[in-house]
Order: sequence, then C-alpha cells, then structure tokens
Amino acid sequence: MSIAEREVRAKRFVSSGRSGNLTARRIWNGLEALSAIPYYLLMCPLTQPRRMTRFLETLFDYQRNEKVVSGNQRLIPTVQPEQLFSNLFQNSVSLLDLGLRPSGTTFVETYIMVCLIKYLRPKTIFEFGTFEGRTALQFCLNASEDSTIFTLDLPAGDSSVPSDCSCPEELSSRQLPIGGFLAHHRQSGRVTQLLQDSANMNFEPFRGTIDFIFVDGDHGMKYVKSDTENAFSMLSPQGVILWHDYGGRWPDVGRYLRETSTRKKLYHFSRTSLVFYGAAMQGVWKATHGM
Ligand SMILES: C[S@@+](CC[C@H](N)C(=O)[O-])C[C@H]1O[C@@H](n2cnc3c(N)ncnc32)[C@H](O)[C@@H]1O
Repeated sequence: MSIAEREVRAKRFVSSGRSGNLTARRIWNGLEALSAIPYYLLMCPLTQPRRMTRFLETLFDYQRNEKVVSGNQRLIPTVQPEQLFSNLFQNSVSLLDLGLRPSGTTFVETYIMVCLIKYLRPKTIFEFGTFEGRTALQFCLNASEDSTIFTLDLPAGDSSVPSDCSCPEELSSRQLPIGGFLAHHRQSGRVTQLLQDSANMNFEPFRGTIDFIFVDGDHGMKYVKSDTENAFSMLSPQGVILWHDYGGRWPDVGRYLRETSTRKKLYHFSRTSLVFYGAAMQGVWKATHGM
C-alpha cells in the first residue's frame, strides 16, 4: 500500500470515528440534560433542599426579570450593546477571575462594561458601591493609564449603616474589607476609595467632570433616586451612566429608572440587568423611537 493510500485510509478512519463520536456525544449530552429533570424534581428536594431553593429562586428571578423588561420596552428598549457602539467587542480586554458572588455583576455584564471602558476611554470613572472592589479593579485594569477612578462605599463598621439601608444582609456577606480586591494590585494606585454615605456626600467638586459612572449602591428608592440625581449632576458632556440590577430582585431600581426614562434616553442591554444612558446619544434615541 502506498503512502498516499495509507493517508487516505487514515483520514477516512479519523473522520468516520469523529462523526461517530460526535453523534454519541450529542446523545449523551441530551440524556444528561434530560436526567436533570428527575434530579431537580425528585432527588434534589430530598438530598439538597438548599440547592433546590436556590434553583427555584433563580427561575422565579428570571421570570420576574423577563416580565419587567418586556413590560417596559416602550420606555426602556432592550438593545444589543453593538447597536449603540458598533465594533464594541473588537478591542481585547483584561478580565480577572475574581469569583462570582450571588446577585453580583455577571461575567457578561462585567465584560460589556470593560469593553465600554476600552472603547470610550473615559478619563474619569465613578462607582457607587465598592463592596469588595471586584468591578472597581476590573475597570482599573481596562482604563487608560492617565485615568482616575473613584469608588464610593459606606465606612466600615455597623454604626455607619443607615437605618433605611435596603440590603443590610448584603453588607454582612462581605468576606474582604471594602475594596479588598484593590489592595494588592499595582495598577489600583489610580483608584481613590471614598468612604461616605452617598446620600450625605457633597458631589459639587465632581460636577460635570465624570465620563463613566456605575450606579450599584443601595437599591432602595431613596438611594437609587439620590445616587441617580448625583450621577447626572457629575456627568461630563460625553459621559455615560450604567445602572446595575434593573429588572432583578430590587423593584425600586426598575421603578425609578422607568420614571427617569420619561425624561432621559435609557437603554437596557440584552441578557443583562444593566441600563445605559449616554449624554451624547440623542441621535440614536431619536432613530430608535422614530422621532
Ligand atoms: C451591590 S454592592 C456593590 C458591588 C460592586 N459594585 C461589585 O460589583 O463588586 C453595593 C454596595 O453599596 C454599598 N452601599 C450601600 N448603601 C450605601 C450608601 N448609602 N452609600 C454608599 N455605599 C452604600 C454597600 O456597602 C455595598 O458594598
């Protein structure tokens, strides 16, 4: 048998084996997926009741989220981020695996935000809600070297928690100090941590100067309203604002953003709980609203 004949035989063998394997793998994956149904219906409630509760909570959250988002389409339309910024995902970005935390920003949400930072190259970034510093650090790794990043949270200690805080259990779930992820990172020298109640802070020195704002502090109406008003007052002429937790388990965020959308042009980013506002995007709003 010549070498050429052997090669052809070998290729046939490999390709038939591959397609055979592929079909088998697909059938196996399908069976595995189906086996999840009896597992969640029968085994899981008995053997892992907490996991079952989390599973049902996730389904419930998803359904509620879909309802809020689809009910608000006229006011806050859902768009793909590339519809507003073509080529948004073409730059390479740096993302660290800092682990996920329940109800924290998802991988997709963090990815979209750092892509926006790479794309828009903001000189100043302001975050409401530092927590352990996950998002602040990811922002910092992708912002240009001459940028400044501010991140605001309550001072440490129970006495600093306002009596009307909407999520005291979230504060006690912290495993690291406020902004802990920033502590050992070389680039995080550009991050200024502000420790104050956002409702009592003087935002006057920041007026009109911030290019990228992330609102992710307290999720109760009083704070969503005051953080949003302060965000708009700090925004630079080309600045953008992103809110987290739209449509999720914090109904006040959806309520206040719905109200805001009657005055400002807001967009919801598909498959996320992020809502976006761009100060310089009047034209896009007019086009999508047929104005
Ligand atoms: C959802 S966490 C922020 C998560 C963070 N952005 C991330 O993704 O890693 C909300 C944070 O807002 C802070 N916070 C709550 N009420 C606040 C207030 N009145 N002023 C400032 N920060 C507040 C909480 O201490 C908490 O760390």
